[in-house]
Amino acid sequence: MSAQPAAQIWPDHVEVTLDDGQVAALRPLRAGESEPVLEVFAGMSELSRARRYLTGMPYLPDRVLQRLTEVGHRDHVAWLVTIDAEPVGIGRYAAYDRRTVDVALEVVDHWHGQGLGGILLDTVVTLAWANGFSAVAATVDPANHASVRLLRRVGLTLQVVDGVLEGQGTLHLPDPARVDRCALLGVVAEAQ
Ligand SMILES: CC(C)(COP(=O)(O)OP(=O)(O)OC[C@H]1O[C@@H](n2cnc3c(N)ncnc32)[C@H](O)[C@@H]1OP(=O)(O)O)[C@@H](O)C(=O)NCCC(=O)NCCS
Repeated sequence: MSAQPAAQIWPDHVEVTLDDGQVAALRPLRAGESEPVLEVFAGMSELSRARRYLTGMPYLPDRVLQRLTEVGHRDHVAWLVTIDAEPVGIGRYAAYDRRTVDVALEVVDHWHGQGLGGILLDTVVTLAWANGFSAVAATVDPANHASVRLLRRVGLTLQVVDGVLEGQGTLHLPDPARVDRCALLGVVAEAQ
């Protein structure tokens, strides 16, 4: 009897250890899963919300929440990051055209500056690249220095257009990697 090669079993999330030793867990947001979206939104200040949505956003209207949770297919992918099971950030891409994705990131305010934005960005561009997209686009508030810094890592050059920064460029995966890309793709394979 010939031995069958053991099938690789991937976990349903990917862990990343932050500089301070805390462990962040990444997993795909499921279609219709609104609770973590609302929890992350609740942890963002007025300024952070305005930077994320480029308009004042005191609460998430139902139609916006619905759009944010219509995920899980090639054209719209979102991943959640949790720390101690608490939702602390979401990264997503949405197809802009057949080769280009728009990326958007959000991290609750009390976790800013700990590397989560870079981890989420690496996650979503890796998945976009794996799904065959080759260009990236974003629109950013000119005062959003953290985003500008992050987006440069993936190939974006931003220019001021009508008071906001806009850019499009060939998608580059950040170097060095901020996440185990092989493990990310393993989670995707396991979920299918
Ligand atoms: C943008 C955002 C996602 C970044 O998340 P984060 O977890 O703070 O990001 P990181 O800790 O990975 O830091 C990203 C980079 O920005 C830099 N940075 C962070 N805050 C900064 C600031 N106030 N000014 C300048 N640079 C800053 C960091 O040093 C880091 O660069 P480096 O790795 O080269 O040192 C977060 O600030 C956020 O959610 N903002 C509100 C929503 C938003 O603006 N979304 C983006 C628009 S789609």
